[in-house]
Amino acid sequence: MRRRSFFKLGLTAAALGVVKPGKAARVFEGVITSPAETMKPIVISTWEHGLAANDNAWKVLKANGPAIDAVELGVRTTESDMKNRSVGIGGRPDRDGHVTLDACIMDEKSNCGAVGYLEGIKHPISVARKIMENTPHIMLVGDGAKSFALDYGFKHVKSPIKEVKQEWKSWKKENKELFEKPVINNENHDTIGMLALDANGNLSGACTTSGWGYKLPGRIGDSPIIGAGLFVDNEIGAACATGLGEAVIRIAGSHTVVELMRQGRTPQQACEEAVARIISKHKNMEGLQVGFLALDKNGDYGAYSVFNGFNFAVKSNDQSELIDADNDRNW
Ligand code: GLY
Repeated sequence: MRRRSFFKLGLTAAALGVVKPGKAARVFEGVITSPAETMKPIVISTWEHGLAANDNAWKVLKANGPAIDAVELGVRTTESDMKNRSVGIGGRPDRDGHVTLDACIMDEKSNCGAVGYLEGIKHPISVARKIMENTPHIMLVGDGAKSFALDYGFKHVKSPIKEVKQEWKSWKKENKELFEKPVINNENHDTIGMLALDANGNLSGACTTSGWGYKLPGRIGDSPIIGAGLFVDNEIGAACATGLGEAVIRIAGSHTVVELMRQGRTPQQACEEAVARIISKHKNMEGLQVGFLALDKNGDYGAYSVFNGFNFAVKSNDQSELIDADNDRNW
């Protein structure tokens, strides 16, 4: 389905005169996988919540603003959504009832910032950006991250929110095990990862989540780890991940996708190969959903997941849609 979408885009771009004659599109297995001309600006992000996030990112991109501002503003949309149970303050808590947030951000100069296990702050992505811009460090976690955020003017907000606390109390009554098996599928999807290419041809990315619902206290997933949940190399491209963070960390997922693009794979091929590597490293695939999203310097993008159900949102001058990613297997 993805390959057909690329083909459709190629035709649309050609019909609109975007594809300049004389420039060859890339061809993979007989199918056009990339428009011949750079498609910029463009923003892509994980899951359906990416549609609203892209709309806000687009406000920056269409005004020729920088990709780093676009991705921060974009994912803040999802962090603000109190109905979202997997990102931000409205997210599910750990097994002790604490909502702990992970996020990271990376720009075209390889500047990056990350925050992990942050409680009671509405916009972890903006704390990550402050760490990137105001400290010599990359990652702050827990109480240290919270003090830093308060020092920089972020306000404490109460969490979990009422509905989530109720849900957690019922869960707690019924779950006496140390931890429950991951339930990460299209009903319980997680992270928003967003990648943008701005009008000046610069790439940036952002990633934010409340992580695995009812996780062990102290657990941090892939989302705040540069190279796992997100990686940007402005020479080549950018990638982000969603799903079971432990599996993503094990193969340095987003960095792997970018390095595969450096070796000549298209974004689509790179995502497929990273998923294949995850599958090859795990004997038991039960509940092991991971999805990758990639964007290169030409604005060509790709996505692939272990199981079906992963989708992503794309916004550019010619396109605004939610696309089902290809996958390796059905649930
Ligand atoms: N991918 C989000 C997490 O595992 O926490």
